[in-house]
Amino acid sequence: MTQDELKKQAAEAALAYVQGGIIGVGTGSTVNHFIDCLAEVKGRFEGAVSSSEASSERLKHHGIQVVDLNSAGQLSLYVDGADEANGRLQLIKGGGGALTREKIVAAASETFVCIADDSKRVDVLGAFPLPVEVIPMARSYVARELVKLGGTPVWREHFVTDNGNLILDVQGLEIQDPAGLEQQINNIAGVVTVGLFALRGADMLILGSASGAKIYEP
Ligand code: A5P
Repeated sequence: MTQDELKKQAAEAALAYVQGGIIGVGTGSTVNHFIDCLAEVKGRFEGAVSSSEASSERLKHHGIQVVDLNSAGQLSLYVDGADEANGRLQLIKGGGGALTREKIVAAASETFVCIADDSKRVDVLGAFPLPVEVIPMARSYVARELVKLGGTPVWREHFVTDNGNLILDVQGLEIQDPAGLEQQINNIAGVVTVGLFALRGADMLILGSASGAKIYEP
């Protein structure tokens, strides 16, 4: 099976958790499959809070109502992809640059179901460059601080987030303490969001694999 077929398999398996109300929807190629699946069960839920302009467009294209988080209240379910996931279901996210809104919607949701193909499962986070969203004027300062933490930040040039900010992708990290590093990077002035989802990781991980979709809990 191709990687894309495995993503689709995980997305289809996540449909079982859609049981009404307003759903939080993430961003990326795996979530795109999930949105396409949602279109088939529109009667089963009221609408969706989206974590990016791209996902909002796709949802609207399918005739699914996009709801502002401020009027949605607490969400029961959030479904999103990941760039890496460890055994404790701590994640690296933000490869698509939507990490800030993703972190907000994840925080506002009771259950976070992460969907991915099985290549995303790792023992130690960090081989995937860690995205950090920064306020534009803080880019160089934050980069110097990230070097002090042992990483090599690379500016994602010609990319602006939905919030008008920049992304530094930090290479060369072997993240032994994801929650500690998340806190440290959060504390650097000028950082909007770090793409580590460790303090609030996923509650469930569905991995598409050659032998079928596998479900993991921390
Ligand atoms: C978007 O900013 C990311 O957090 C995505 O969730 C992550 O990059 C996974 O993307 P794919 O589903 O395209 O692999």
